[in-house]
Amino acid sequence: MNESFKRKILCIGAGYVGGPTMAMIAHKCPQYKVTVVDINPDRINEWNSENLPIYEPGLYEIVKSSRGKNLFFHTDVKKGIQESDIIFVSVNTPTKTFGVGAGMAADLQYWEKTARQILECSQSPKIIVEKSTLPVKTALAMERILSSANSGIHFEVLSNPEFLAEGTAIKDLENPDRVLIGSSQTESGLKARDELVEIYQNWVPRKQIITSNIWSSELSKLVANAFLAQRISSINSISDLCEKTDADISEVAHAIGMDSRIGDRFLKASVGFGGSCFKKDILNLVYLCRNYGLTEVADYWESVVRINEYQKERFILNMLKAMFNTLADKKICLLGFAFKADTGDTRETPALYIANKLLEENAKLIISDPKALKNAKKDLKGAQGDISYVEDPYVAAKGCHALAILTEWALYAELDYQKIYNSMEKPAFLFDGRNIVSHQELHKIGFNVYPIGKPALKHF
Ligand code: NAD
Ligand code: UGA
Repeated sequence: MNESFKRKILCIGAGYVGGPTMAMIAHKCPQYKVTVVDINPDRINEWNSENLPIYEPGLYEIVKSSRGKNLFFHTDVKKGIQESDIIFVSVNTPTKTFGVGAGMAADLQYWEKTARQILECSQSPKIIVEKSTLPVKTALAMERILSSANSGIHFEVLSNPEFLAEGTAIKDLENPDRVLIGSSQTESGLKARDELVEIYQNWVPRKQIITSNIWSSELSKLVANAFLAQRISSINSISDLCEKTDADISEVAHAIGMDSRIGDRFLKASVGFGGSCFKKDILNLVYLCRNYGLTEVADYWESVVRINEYQKERFILNMLKAMFNTLADKKICLLGFAFKADTGDTRETPALYIANKLLEENAKLIISDPKALKNAKKDLKGAQGDISYVEDPYVAAKGCHALAILTEWALYAELDYQKIYNSMEKPAFLFDGRNIVSHQELHKIGFNVYPIGKPALKHF
């Protein structure tokens, strides 16, 4: 093994962020040794296998190109810390479920344990890079913990939030809109910042690597997610009005999106946004604002989450109303369970909410998804009711009273809906939570079609 690496990088946390970001750094920077550690041995075993723990287009190829050369996955956190010069911390920071701030604030227990472990195991100076999404001023807490033992070892804390989206992580990492690095403005802070800039400069143009003070960097990450989610809630709120007024949400989105000040991305009305971060990061922002006494600001951002909950509720109520106010014993096929296409991730997926509500109505569920069935089974473990999991959408839809498209997998836009219709109970219903099929065509086939933000196309 080549031990003459320029620097040794460690990443603590081998999840959706740690794995792909480190794989990209290793791939682009063969001169650095990159090690990723995690306390979960199953995850590490999967990273070392052909079946990676997460599905992400292009990820396997990138991992394979560097694994065993300058990219390593293991569980020995202590050894990893001792050997490294630069430590990225990419552990999970979920919403707190207990005590003060429960349901709102970030749960920083994994983060703090990591900080203490770095302090305990370090024998040489290190740059610590916050990769996890954190409340503003977390770097200060990190610095306090790291300097608490008076060990004489210097730790420089940087903020380098990650902006990748799942399903496009490799593309986003390879060609990011920007890389953000926050540092303290001291001599050692700026020196550490420059070391991180140097790593990214191996493939990201310098003008896209932006630097700021630490607090702006931490806050920018929360605000970026809040703005993105706010666009979805804005368009989803208008989708409700469209359904009442016979306007068409796709036409409205197209018309407003052509205004270059608004832009046309992230304006797809849907059953609601999911994913592990939008809700948690907005609630974190709301909690921060409340802490600083900014009630109006907190209420404003909290409404983004409220509209998202409302959109999911609305979807179920529409289904119930359309299907003669009873779903009991009706077979309903959910096309898609992942929170978005091209991922197997189901964290905060609207499909879980929909599934649970349908089960409460005593509907029978057939869940289909090309990549997320393993997670769907875990999510619904213990749920009461009749649930089956079928990957083939044609088999899944057979004998059903209704289809609900909940994930925008490209394959669902291309199915042979005539064949599906022929195999279903009549009247057959289709609820398109992603507006990805041709509603007119499906109506012509015989379906009663309920899109989002467009008039329903019925046969009665
Ligand atoms: P994840 O749950 O997939 O991964 C976190 C990993 O950290 C887990 O495998 C866990 O076992 C490990 N871990 C926890 N404590 C540890 C410890 N003390 N030592 C070693 N390993 C430990 O989470 P994720 O989706 O990768 O998110 C990580 C952070 O990145 C979060 O703060 C999140 O908000 C942020 N983020 C996520 C995304 C995304 O698309 N998922 C994008 C940008 C930012
Ligand atoms: C999001 C951000 O896009 C990333 O920049 C950020 O790094 C990441 O959160 C994070 O911090 O975790 P992600 O949640 O992976 O990424 O995926 P998105 O593409 O943002 O989609 C989020 C949800 O919004 C999905 O459920 C998606 O289906 C939904 N969505 C997205 C819509 O309903 N309409 C749209 O127009 C776009």
